[in-house]
Order: sequence, then C-alpha cells, then structure tokens
Amino acid sequence: MGHTGGRVIEIRLDASRHMEVLIACPVGMVPRAGQYLLAVDRDDPETVLGIPLFIAGESVHGWWAAPPIPASWKPGTSLDLVGPLGKGFDLPREVQRLGLAALGDSVGRLMLVIRQTGLVQRAVTLFTDLPLPSLPAFVEAYPLATLPEALEWPDFMQIDLPLRRLAELRAILGIQGGKELAFPAQVLITTPMPCAGLARCGACAVPTQRGWKFACEDGPVFDLKALKW
Ligand code: FES
Repeated sequence: MGHTGGRVIEIRLDASRHMEVLIACPVGMVPRAGQYLLAVDRDDPETVLGIPLFIAGESVHGWWAAPPIPASWKPGTSLDLVGPLGKGFDLPREVQRLGLAALGDSVGRLMLVIRQTGLVQRAVTLFTDLPLPSLPAFVEAYPLATLPEALEWPDFMQIDLPLRRLAELRAILGIQGGKELAFPAQVLITTPMPCAGLARCGACAVPTQRGWKFACEDGPVFDLKALKW
C-alpha cells in the first residue's frame, strides 16, 4: 500500500451517462480489477471522506476510474491517493466459460476483467440490465432475467453487487434458499468505504458465514460461499 499524489487528466461518460476519469499516478498505485484506491480531492476543503476508486481500464497515460466519481472533479483536479487496497478478483487459469453479472449502476468495474479475459481466449457472457458499453466481439450480453436459465453455462462467475442488493441475490440467480451455485463465484461488494479500514468505522460491514467482515479490508471481493446471502 502506498500514499501518493495523482491528477485527473481526462473525463468521459460511460454508456449509462456516468462520469469516468483518467487518472495519472505512479504505476505501482494502479489497482487490479476489484481492488480500489482511496482518493481525496486536495483542493476541496469540504472533502473529509475518501472516495473509493475502482479501475475500469488501462491507458498509456494512466488508468480509468469507474463511476461513481464526484461531479466536481475535472481535468486538473489534484488527488491524494492511498492504495491499492483490498482483495481484488482472482480468476483461476482453468476457467473456460466466465459469467459476469453487473447489478449496480455501472458495468465499469467489470470492464478490466473483460479486457484481460480476451487475452486468454475464454468465453464470456455478461448479464445486466444496464446500458451496454462497447464490448469486445467475444462477449455475449443478456438481460438479468435470463440469468436463472443460463446457470448451466458458466464454470465461474464474477458479480458486481451493491451491498444493499445482497438480500435479493438468490431471487436474481433463481436459487432457492439453502441451495448453492454449482460453480465457484466471486462477488465485488460495493458500499461506502469512507475510512478504508484506517479508522475501523464499520460503515462497510458485510454479513458472512463467519460473522461481520469489513468490505474495505476483508473484501471488497468475497467468495460467494463465504457470504451470508
Ligand atoms: S470503511 Fe471504515 S471500516 Fe471499512
């Protein structure tokens, strides 16, 4: 984990019209998919809480941070950055058919997984009701309502899930209480993480089979079977 300065050098809108920002910072600070940096706007005296930033893509000039991004950020905004923090996605080599599900307000946090998957010739299917970004040709996309019938297909799954929707996950997957998925799955839990574990504020508490865990430290990517869902 490091602490450094960074700078917003470009902004763009994703397919859902949410802002993404290109951040220039030292290479060693760039998070892996599912990890995050905690960012504070150096010039905003109102800012006391850090913003967790997840990677949506890489660039020769820096890395794209996925939504949500504070509306006040613009090219030139100076940032204090801490990270990379937390456990990211970890995709076993042997996976052939990767299912992805975006249940939050952006597909962005899954986009680096998609781009990296294209390098190793896996089949990828994305389930979401969000507007679709430009996707590589090897990715198929379907609405969330088709997910229960498609669960025969993946041999691994990665899910982007706001914590507030954890209680809905069984219904979304079409799995009755007590039953498990037939394949392993990882879940990126998104929730406010204002202290990133530094102050143990508890704002990011996630119910797991071993009691409450902190998304900021123990996640934000969890094995699905470790969660209480
Ligand atoms: S954000 Fe404070 S304990 Fe996780």
